[in-house]
Amino acid sequence: MNMRQEPFDPLRLRSALGSFVTGVTVVTTRNADGEPVGLTVNSFNTVSLSPPLILWSLSLHAASFDAFVQANHFVVNVLAADQIPVSEAFAKTGGDKFSNVAWCNTVADMPRLEGTAATLTCRNAQRFSGGDHLIFIGEVVSFEKSERPPLVYANGKYTRLSDTASAKQSGKTSTVLSTSD
Ligand SMILES: Cc1cc2nc3c(=O)[nH]c(=O)nc-3n(C[C@H](O)[C@H](O)[C@H](O)COP(=O)(O)O)c2cc1C
Repeated sequence: MNMRQEPFDPLRLRSALGSFVTGVTVVTTRNADGEPVGLTVNSFNTVSLSPPLILWSLSLHAASFDAFVQANHFVVNVLAADQIPVSEAFAKTGGDKFSNVAWCNTVADMPRLEGTAATLTCRNAQRFSGGDHLIFIGEVVSFEKSERPPLVYANGKYTRLSDTASAKQSGKTSTVLSTSD
């Protein structure tokens, strides 16, 4: 058991935080020149249903930082299980991240990826300082949900949900995580 120690070993802290299982999103917007920008994000979470609010945090060092600070809207693209290449492409800095992915415009002329598990178009409502990240609160102004299973991320690896044969046979709806490597 690693009780509180200072200073923290950043790698061990990252490893501990990574044991919290998340989905994977690509958050997109347009920069001041109207060009689409985006990055892979797993800090996304629900805040409130009424009003409909979500949050995510952006590194102060991200190349897309200025674009997200000045944007009126952004889109949370919740990736589907078969979109690992999309996650990898948007986890890189620089280059045209949109050239090898199908995308279109959503309301407010925001870039929206195709083939996702869900899409949330948000008004850039509030921002809070959070150490080396900036926390964005988005108010959902429109959304779509598909039947595609979501991509999952745990312990630094992409993972997917799959129904077990035994669960199907027994009629139970439980699912298990199965790593994709
Ligand atoms: C699974 C995964 C989750 C990530 N989550 C975040 C996140 O929540 N916030 C963030 O700022 N960067 C996150 N990143 C890192 C960014 O995607 C990466 O630094 C990207 O290159 C930033 O793009 P930019 O520099 O063009 O803005 C994540 C990367 C991966 C692979």
